[in-house]
Formats: sequence, C-alpha cells, structure tokens
Amino acid sequence: MNIIKAENYDEMSHMAARKIIEKVRINPKITLGLATGSTPIGVYKKLIEDHKTNGTTYKQVTTVNLDEYSGIDRNDPNSYHYFMCEQLFNHIDIPHEQTYIPDGMAKDLQLECSRFESVVQKLGGVDVQLLGIGHNGHIGFNEPGTSFKSRTHVVALTESTRKANARFFPSIEDVPAHAITMGIATIMESKEIILLASGTSKAEAIARLVNGEVNEDFPASLLKLHNNVTIIADKDALQLV
Ligand code: F6R
Repeated sequence: MNIIKAENYDEMSHMAARKIIEKVRINPKITLGLATGSTPIGVYKKLIEDHKTNGTTYKQVTTVNLDEYSGIDRNDPNSYHYFMCEQLFNHIDIPHEQTYIPDGMAKDLQLECSRFESVVQKLGGVDVQLLGIGHNGHIGFNEPGTSFKSRTHVVALTESTRKANARFFPSIEDVPAHAITMGIATIMESKEIILLASGTSKAEAIARLVNGEVNEDFPASLLKLHNNVTIIADKDALQLV
C-alpha cells in the first residue's frame, strides 16, 4: 500500500481529486467507484470546482456507488442516492443513467444485490474505487466478520455504525437497520483503490490497517493484499502509524 500524507483535510481532498481528474482525463470512459460519508465530500467539491473551471467532462464516465440504506426512498435526503446527487452528480455533466447506486427500496433485496453485482461485472469492474474507512475497519458497509469472499449483499448494520451515522438523522432510531453493500471481493476486484482518512478519530483504524494482520475481524485489512492501493490521509489520521 502506498501512503500519502497530507497536512490536513483540504490537502487530502486536493490530492485525491487531482489523482481522479488525471485518470478521467486519460480515460474519459473510466468507471469510478464512489463512496458517501463525510470524508469524500471535499474531494467531490474539488471535482466540481475543476469541472467548472477547467471543463473536465464526465459525459462518458460511469460511476458505481458502494452502498445504500435499505428502506429509504432515493429522494429522501438521508439516502445515499440523494447525497450523491447533492454532493456531486447535479454539479457535473455526468448523465444520470451512467450513475449506479443500489436500490434500497427494491421489493426483493437479494435480487437487487445480484442485479447490482452484474452491473459492476458488465462494466468490467471498477477502474478506480474511492473508499472511506469506519472506526471498526468497515469498508462500504462490510462490517467486521464479513467474509472476504462476499459479493454485493444485504447487511445488518452494527450498533457502532448506526451510532456513527446517527449524526445525519433526527435520532439513532431513524438510522436504518439494514443496507446493501458491494462485497469485499467485489471491492478487491477494482483495478485501483484510493482510501481516504482524515482526523484523529480515524488514527487507530489507519494504524491497524497499516500495521495489523489481514483478518476478517478488520475488513479493510484485506486491502493489504491488493496490488494498487493508495492511502491518502492527513497527519492526524496517520499519527499512530
Ligand atoms: C460510505 C461507506 C462507508 C464510509 C465510512 C466512513 O459509502 O462506504 O464505509 O466510507 O463509514 O465514513 P465517514 O467518511 O463519514 O467517516
């Protein structure tokens, strides 16, 4: 794993955005894997700025998102679909039909998982996958104990993840109990992975990722066996490495 140390959140976002913009310019038909959460918001802001200022185009780009809550309508402000539209898609020139996010309202969630998995496969896999990391090492919504062989699947969210995400909801009871997530095996098939981390609250997770063993108790640890992973983190997140 390459580790790039940024001074702060803004520099981390800038570095990751530059990498993505360069890839999009080299391969205008790239498939980007995207994440939600607080961490990538700065990257998305910089992609938008660059699109407006320098005209980088996303007309032929395809995106797939890591995950979506189940039981929340796509137009609900708490859905990841809504998040992606607000934070990125509505501000660049990507056609909506080239953006894929699991449908958390699908009647048959298992069928939706297979459908989403085959979307990723038909695209030939993800070229560059952006990841955040949970305090417990989750990637996507793959919580500790998830099989490294997992494909897109339905998960029951742990109490710690629901607590961490409660900041976006009126109360913890409103945080959905289930979600659909790309599996760990699916994520590992991405040709390149950029994992972002910022702030002291991520320091233990990053130290365990860098120095710890590969173990299903810490889902992100499998990234150590991927041949093209770059961690871009600020110095607070890297302070225990
Ligand atoms: C979101 C996702 C999650 C987050 C993780 C960190 O699509 O896949 O794994 O990346 O929970 O979230 P933040 O960035 O809010 O700390």
